[in-house]
Amino acid sequence: MKFFIDTANLAQIQEAHDLGILDGVTTNPSLMAKEGIKGEAAIMKHYEAICEVVEGGDVSAEVLSTDFANIVEEGKKLAAIHPNIVVKVPMIKDGVKAIKWFTENGIRTNCTLVFSAGQAILAAKAGAAYVSPFIGRIDDSSWDGVELIAQIAQIYSVQGFKTEILAASIRNALHIVKCAEVGADVCTCPLDSILGLLKHPLTDIGLAKFLEDAKKM
Ligand code: E4P
Repeated sequence: MKFFIDTANLAQIQEAHDLGILDGVTTNPSLMAKEGIKGEAAIMKHYEAICEVVEGGDVSAEVLSTDFANIVEEGKKLAAIHPNIVVKVPMIKDGVKAIKWFTENGIRTNCTLVFSAGQAILAAKAGAAYVSPFIGRIDDSSWDGVELIAQIAQIYSVQGFKTEILAASIRNALHIVKCAEVGADVCTCPLDSILGLLKHPLTDIGLAKFLEDAKKM
């Protein structure tokens, strides 16, 4: 399973990259706004800076338009920033149409805001490189986000779809483990959830004891 970081914060992207396990980055308009990135030129420059930090990993950049013609125009501009940019397109009617257009024109896409298996089938049929089910938001609404990942993984396997399942809206380290278990191809996580994988109290206790005993060596 690939590890993406879900942030537009350059310091956090660098920290995950330095850990040696980072395969890519996802952003969205909320994450870009959180970093105070405003205006087209600043947005483009920020995506370029992110691509430089991840050195070869895919970077999802989201379109802000919701109609076919403008999604295509915006997506073409985003894709021109760097070869690793993946155009992130919402799961709406014009979005599906645009994903198909991007697929036929050699531009890779990440279909975002996916909350059902039916939506995941449409994204795959249109040729999306990635599909992003938002598992944390599904859990928040009292449904089972990991179960949806498992269902999509089963459908894609039976049908031979090539679209990669990118588990998004990750809230904790357990989400990452469960997504790995049920067949997600990628998990995009906040830095805290990635670092959460490191934690186990018995590791800390064991290491403290080894370091104490090492003094007697
Ligand atoms: C990633 O592609 C999504 O935009 C992101 O994971 C959404 O996460 P949230 O539900 O924590 O906002």
